[in-house]
Amino acid sequence: MSHVNGAPLVEAKNLRKSYRVQNGVVHALNGVDITVRTGEFVAVVGPTGSGKSTLLNLLAGLEPADAGTVVLLGHPLDQLDEDALADLRLRAVGMIYQSYNLFSGFTVRQNVRLPLQLMTRRPPFDATQRTNQLLADFGLPDLAERYPAELSGGQQQLAAIARALATNPPLILADEPTANVDTTMARQIVARLRGLANSGQHGVILATHDLRMASQADRVLSLRDGQIVKETVLQPGRDARDVIEALA
Ligand SMILES: Nc1ncnc2c1ncn2[C@@H]1O[C@H](COP(=O)(O)OP(=O)(O)OP(=O)(O)O)[C@@H](O)[C@H]1O
Ligand SMILES: [Mg+2]
Repeated sequence: MSHVNGAPLVEAKNLRKSYRVQNGVVHALNGVDITVRTGEFVAVVGPTGSGKSTLLNLLAGLEPADAGTVVLLGHPLDQLDEDALADLRLRAVGMIYQSYNLFSGFTVRQNVRLPLQLMTRRPPFDATQRTNQLLADFGLPDLAERYPAELSGGQQQLAAIARALATNPPLILADEPTANVDTTMARQIVARLRGLANSGQHGVILATHDLRMASQADRVLSLRDGQIVKETVLQPGRDARDVIEALA
């Protein structure tokens, strides 16, 4: 199935996920539906523990759902074997992890370049050039030969974003990508995500606590206790303050 012309990049229905913990079970997701198409920028907001990261992890195929379905670029994830899932993830999804997940034994440059090297099908651009461009875009050239442990939290976050975008994936899942950078940088990151959606080549899901960042989205899904309790469609050119008021 093609993912152009506004076809769904990802379509999830009735997603449920529980975790066993010390003294019982946590219901992280309690029946979530979400569809995101190319050209869309969707924000997921909600308090700590409401299920934002769990939702993104399930959409990316990093963890299986207990119930419900995720269809990624037309492929139901529960019907793929491990290799097919890994291959689909690599070409379909750019994941910006809340905790970065940079490879500690690799330099910043190697981290950014790695997804390009893992692709079985050659990407339509030169890996060295693409890596250099992303390092430049995120202000990382001087840090490129350092290891993640030698960076600040915000610098690691920027490297993680550059890595997620390396293969130019159609679906970008950004989990609190601005949590550890200053306001100016946060605005730039969200503007970049907005631009990727506007290009018509990508769909973006942004999980964030920050309603100012969410105000740049086309739609905002409010999660509470693992359920979407509200969907707010935002008009272009709206004022961020109006959005914050509407979502509060
Ligand atoms: N691996 C896990 N094992 C046990 N419980 C988990 C696990 N991952 C998440 N949870 C629980 O599931 C719920 C949802 O967690 P999740 O990380 O999705 O929330 P979140 O909205 O991303 O929060 P935050 O804003 O703090 O990042 C929480 O109650 C959390 O404690
Ligand atoms: Mg989270």
